[in-house]
Amino acid sequence: MKAFLLNRYGGPETTGLQDVSRPAPGHDDVLVRVHAAGLNPVDFKTRDGMLKVVQRYDLPVVMGNELAGTVESCGKGVTAFKPGDRVFARVPKDRMGAFAEYAAVPADHLAPLPASIDFETAAGIPLAGLTALQALRDELRLQPGSRVFIPGGAGGVGTFAIQIAKWLGAEVTTTASPRGRALVERLGADVVIDYTTQRFEDTVRDMDGVFDLIGGDTLDKAFGVVKPGGMVVSVAGMPEPVTARKDLERGPLLAALFWFASFGLRARARRHDVTYRYLFMHPSGAELGELARLVEEGRLEPVIDRVFPFDAIDEAMAYLESGHAKGKIVVRMAG
Ligand SMILES: NC(=O)c1ccc[n+]([C@@H]2O[C@H](COP(=O)([O-])OP(=O)(O)OC[C@H]3O[C@@H](n4cnc5c(N)ncnc54)[C@H](OP(=O)(O)O)[C@@H]3O)[C@@H](O)[C@H]2O)c1
Repeated sequence: MKAFLLNRYGGPETTGLQDVSRPAPGHDDVLVRVHAAGLNPVDFKTRDGMLKVVQRYDLPVVMGNELAGTVESCGKGVTAFKPGDRVFARVPKDRMGAFAEYAAVPADHLAPLPASIDFETAAGIPLAGLTALQALRDELRLQPGSRVFIPGGAGGVGTFAIQIAKWLGAEVTTTASPRGRALVERLGADVVIDYTTQRFEDTVRDMDGVFDLIGGDTLDKAFGVVKPGGMVVSVAGMPEPVTARKDLERGPLLAALFWFASFGLRARARRHDVTYRYLFMHPSGAELGELARLVEEGRLEPVIDRVFPFDAIDEAMAYLESGHAKGKIVVRMAG
């Protein structure tokens, strides 16, 4: 089968489409014939080697973290799916493998894909959708009437986050360039700040929480817009000790490393009487089922910016890496 491989850590030249053998599904796995796969910044961060401290792969490895397709065959332990079922998934972090014509995925990472959602749309849901759900509902615990600030509303995660925050009943303030304004307004953002001409820290205040998708200077300033007792959850800043223990289930060594790395951010959070949390999302077939229901009910609209043919995945990666996608980038496998 055709697959997109990472041959060594480095730039775009370290990856390429190659012929490899089909993966064999294990006892609890489902072999999925992949119809479409979603791209995420984690793909080029993995390629660059930026994430080696949390996840190392034996190279070469098939890349890709989310997919939609049909069940080809099932391991002996699988009872929830059968050949022909339409499914989608955020695949295991330690296996990847979505950028391929076939992928073996643990059954508990998969959710049934309703007939009303096409494969290309479905492929863009898992990673960004689960990230937004887990950050806003489970970490920030948004309630009706909560006020949340989401810097970076027009991208893959942001387009889900705005809608999920609104579904949870929150008031949403976000940032976008003029290119993204109409989109984030359509998705329900109550206040939109043009980050190219305005400093959000001059006008945003008394937020219950921040869901940071940008990191850097934006994250540094985000602590000042939250009420005392509030929370900043980032997926783009620096991991902290809870990330190591809770999200990565790792021991004290990694927690200590993250303690040092996040020292400045946690000190800033303490000065503002705010909690800082860096979230690594986790795959979940059950939670994907919840997202599928929201899409079916018309409460959640996955925003797909561009669909590329699988043969043009290099181009798709370069477009994603430009950092200006509006919603998600997807590749479509042949057939
Ligand atoms: N920890 C985790 O589990 C996890 C999970 C998912 C994602 N992430 C991380 O979260 C971040 C966002 O991911 P994503 O998929 O949403 O990325 P993305 O789709 O590439 O985001 C692109 C969008 O960001 C906007 N943008 C760029 N700079 C901005 C700024 N300074 N202020 C406001 N908006 C800005 C761009 O708008 P313009 O083109 O208009 O500038 C574009 O619409 C990435 O760093 C990713 O690695 C982490």
